[in-house]
Formats: sequence, structure tokens, C-alpha cells
Amino acid sequence: MSNNNIIEHDYFVCKSKRNQKNKHNSFVIWFTGLSGSGKSTIANKVEEYLFDNGIQTYTLDGDNIRMGINKGLGFNEEDRNENLRRIAEIAKLFVDAGMVTIAAFVSPLEKDRELVKDIIGADNFVEVFVHTSLKECENRDVKGLYKKARAGEIKNFTGINAPYEKPTTPDVLIETEKENIEAAIEKVVTFVKHKLEL
Ligand code: PPS
Repeated sequence: MSNNNIIEHDYFVCKSKRNQKNKHNSFVIWFTGLSGSGKSTIANKVEEYLFDNGIQTYTLDGDNIRMGINKGLGFNEEDRNENLRRIAEIAKLFVDAGMVTIAAFVSPLEKDRELVKDIIGADNFVEVFVHTSLKECENRDVKGLYKKARAGEIKNFTGINAPYEKPTTPDVLIETEKENIEAAIEKVVTFVKHKLEL
């Protein structure tokens, strides 16, 4: 239900004032990739590096989202779309609050990643594709979910019985089977360094 009586308010303390105070820009670093691809591991290390170097950061991940505000949403196409739409709106608020916001979600469909980028704004959005083959993710199977999905115990499991559309033009491409974690972190940090500058 839309409400035509909602009128946006201009606040004195705004994003640019916060960014001036923090001495860096705020934006979203969005990690996409299959379950088990390594996106959370790399995202956490990137945050640690930035945080240790005086950057205001915050990470949005499955624990604080799917167990909190998005509790009750599943993995069919409609629920994933709503999951990602809400995450994008939250990320936008964090960017407004001056944070370099790190988000690590499977985000398997191009149309949903486009929606996320539209909500956040292209200038505030860095897309990192953590590319790990399905074979390798399945070999690792850290959470045992691929085994369950193969056994038919999980519906709509990305890569098994739900699609993953690879980003065609990510800002950063990480190939975890070819490069180690230090190289991956450096790649992301190198890309975002210029974006941090006011
Ligand atoms: S999405 O597609 O972006 O809405 O997914 P996301 O919110 O990132 O949630 C992915 C994590 O949920 C677990 N999980 C599943 N993943 C994919 N498909 C299905 N059906 C599924 N069911 C549960 C899985 O542990 C994902 O975590 P990661 O960290 O990616 O392994």
C-alpha cells in the first residue's frame, strides 16, 4: 500500500558531513557467489583490513539478516528478491550513516543484483564476484548443504536445483581456485582505495 502523504525530510547531518568527519567516503562492497564459495571469509578479512586502517565499517550477513529482519523468508525466487531488496535498503541506510558497508549474499540472479544496485545507487556500489566452481564448492561442502541438496532434502538450492547467473562485468573478480586469500583481499582493497578518497 503506497502512502502519498510521506514527505522526505532534509537532515542537517547528512552523508557528506559524516564522510567529512570520518575522512573517507561510504559505499557498499557487495560480494556475490555460490554457497561455500568463500565470500564471507574474504568479506570478513576485507572488513578487518579496512577497520584496522581507520575506516568505519559494518558487515551485513546471513546471521544478522536472515535470522533477524528477514526471518521467515525462504529461498524461492520471490523470497530471495525480497531478502535482497530489504538488504539493499538497509545497506543504503548504513552508507548514509557513513559506513563502508560489506554485504555477502549469494544474490544469484542478475535482475536482483541490478535491483540492489539501483536501490543503493551505482556510485555507491562495488560488485565483487567470488568465483568458485560448483564442483569445488560441493567438494568443500563446509555446511553439508550440498549433500542434503543432492539427496533432495533442500529445495531451490543454488547451483543444484536453482540457478546462479554469473556476473558478466563485476568490478572485482576473485577466482578462489587460482588465487589465495591474501591476493583476494589485496585485489578488493586496491579497487576500493580510490573510492575511499573524498
Ligand atoms: S540469497 O540467494 O542471496 O537470498 O541467499 P542468502 O541470503 O545469501 O543466503 C544464503 C545462505 O543460506 C544457506 N542456504 C541456502 N543457500 C542457497 N540456496 C538455498 N536453498 C539455501 N538454503 C540455505 C546457505 O548456508 C547460504 O550461506 P553461504 O554463506 O552463502 O554458504
